[in-house]
Amino acid sequence: MIFKKFGKTDEKISSIGLGTWKIGENRNNAITSIRIALDFGINFIDTAEMYGTEEIVGAALKAIKRDNFFIATKVSPHHFHYKEVIKACDESIKRLGLKYIDLYQLHWPAKNIPIKETMRAMEKLMKDGKIMHIGVSNFSVEEIKEAQSALKNSEIISNQVEYNVLSREIESDGTLEYCKKNNIEVIAYSPFMRGDLSKANFNKVYNKLEVIGKKYNKTAFQVALNWLISKGTLPIPKALNYAHIIENAAATEFKLSDADISAIDKIDTRKKEFIPVKNIMKRTSLFSRIITDRANKF
Ligand SMILES: NC(=O)c1ccc[n+]([C@@H]2O[C@H](COP(=O)([O-])OP(=O)(O)OC[C@H]3O[C@@H](n4cnc5c(N)ncnc54)[C@H](OP(=O)(O)O)[C@@H]3O)[C@@H](O)[C@H]2O)c1
Repeated sequence: MIFKKFGKTDEKISSIGLGTWKIGENRNNAITSIRIALDFGINFIDTAEMYGTEEIVGAALKAIKRDNFFIATKVSPHHFHYKEVIKACDESIKRLGLKYIDLYQLHWPAKNIPIKETMRAMEKLMKDGKIMHIGVSNFSVEEIKEAQSALKNSEIISNQVEYNVLSREIESDGTLEYCKKNNIEVIAYSPFMRGDLSKANFNKVYNKLEVIGKKYNKTAFQVALNWLISKGTLPIPKALNYAHIIENAAATEFKLSDADISAIDKIDTRKKEFIPVKNIMKRTSLFSRIITDRANKF
């Protein structure tokens, strides 16, 4: 495993992390998967109160030395009022069975809650030693700037966003460039398009990655991860299957050539049947409820 510095912090993290959305179906299997990931050097574990998987992550980490992992979790937008942030964090800490969270992220921007109020709570959590770093997720450049200016004594360390060979919004809307310039770590979620990468719809893309991979004796999935690493981001694939975890860990140990990176850059993303998480969220009742609830309160 190749390790790297996490953005502007001094934390040493693995160059891929492990996602834990939807790992809850088979608890024992999930616990073993997380431990295998740790055994293969993956020390960055991503979860969220919204996933309902913090307790499983906590159980997997129970016997592990605290310095040997970096835990990132998220507070949901319906908990962005001051007291709710504090309570949500306390509950996450409890479910995780830890004394503190390494990275606490605002899961989605909540337009109708004053960001100053949310960030005041985040800084209180930092002051109390309950969280080590503040991150955001699904934030645009404007939203990051606004969130940063709401912080008095701390900095936004990371932005977790959807990024994969077909979801390139962060390239076109300037988020990737802004984060790089400001040393804000870009955590790339859904690196395998929620597993759709190998589905028939995406044959062309998959085949292209597979052909490139053959040169390095790597799979299409490993190429997809390595491409994200080459962009300076931290991909966090979710994998329950043990062989997948081992394969993903080995994706960090080679370097795509500039020519291959640029061949992947050129993949046609216009005709995409793949629907980004953001668009799904906009359509779901949960997301619109979050926005409406907020609107009703102000
Ligand atoms: N901040 C946000 O709003 C947000 C949104 C979405 C996701 N996330 C985070 O990002 C993480 C990852 O994204 P995701 O869960 O959407 O999906 P993903 O990582 O793009 O894809 C996961 C799927 O890929 C499969 N897979 C993993 N490694 C593989 C390999 N080497 N070969 C073949 N298949 C492989 C997994 O199968 P198996 O499980 O069977 O191994 C699973 O079905 C989440 O778990 C979550 O932590 C954050």
